[in-house]
Amino acid sequence: MSDPGHTIVLEARGLAKSFQLGEASVEVLSCVDISLEESSSLSIQGESGCGKTTLLNLLARLEIGDAGEISWGGRKMMATDSFSSTESILRTRFLGVVYQAYYLIPELNVLENVLMAARLAGGPDQDSTDRARSLLSKMGVGQKEKQVPSKLSGGERQRVAIARALINTPKVLLADEPTGNLDERTGGQVMDLLLNACEEENTGLVLVTHNESFARSADSRVILSEGKTHPG
Ligand SMILES: Nc1ncnc2c1ncn2[C@@H]1O[C@H](COP(=O)(O)OP(=O)(O)OP(=O)(O)O)[C@@H](O)[C@H]1O
Ligand SMILES: [Mg+2]
Repeated sequence: MSDPGHTIVLEARGLAKSFQLGEASVEVLSCVDISLEESSSLSIQGESGCGKTTLLNLLARLEIGDAGEISWGGRKMMATDSFSSTESILRTRFLGVVYQAYYLIPELNVLENVLMAARLAGGPDQDSTDRARSLLSKMGVGQKEKQVPSKLSGGERQRVAIARALINTPKVLLADEPTGNLDERTGGQVMDLLLNACEEENTGLVLVTHNESFARSADSRVILSEGKTHPG
């Protein structure tokens, strides 16, 4: 399945997913294969509605598929199986997720938002507080740790969301149009920070983006269309 000498950290084979639309069943993904090498990046492009978010949800095991197999660091799961509690514990450590809309908790300050993710994985302790501060500072928002999200700009919110996604040293980060709400300049800065942080942390990255130049900056690219992945 994998090239000799390269460790595949995230893999999917034959993923399929349909949604019920009234009486009709609409097939969004028909046969998707994805493979991500450890500490590398893969971009996914495709027209709006082609199934990119659905694919990330299947890879994260947040959505049950109609067919296919997913492997997290060599742990194989059937995409059709219902979620197990073991899997959700594993997910907090294996995967980080960044969304276009940030999804920070409005009542919590920046540091607490990052530590909340550590709590879900069994923390936080002093080490995770130190790590949260170090990630926030790496993302250029170290001075904002006491602020609530509503006092931050969009770019700052996304930097916090990236720190939160990385707090549990995940093997893979899934990013769904992380710069989609940002202007070009801010988006470029956030993307640079995201790519650098993943590289420094040895975290693999699956990046869904509409931005051609961001897509090209990934180690490999695929295009999703008509329910299948094609080489980019
Ligand atoms: N829970 C759901 N129930 C029914 N249809 C759904 C559901 N989730 C997604 N879809 C449909 O599946 C298709 C793919 O949606 P998806 O959100 O994966 O697209 P996308 O490629 O992420 O689009 P965008 O670039 O606009 O974010 C769309 O036609 C959408 O309406
Ligand atoms: Mg989407």
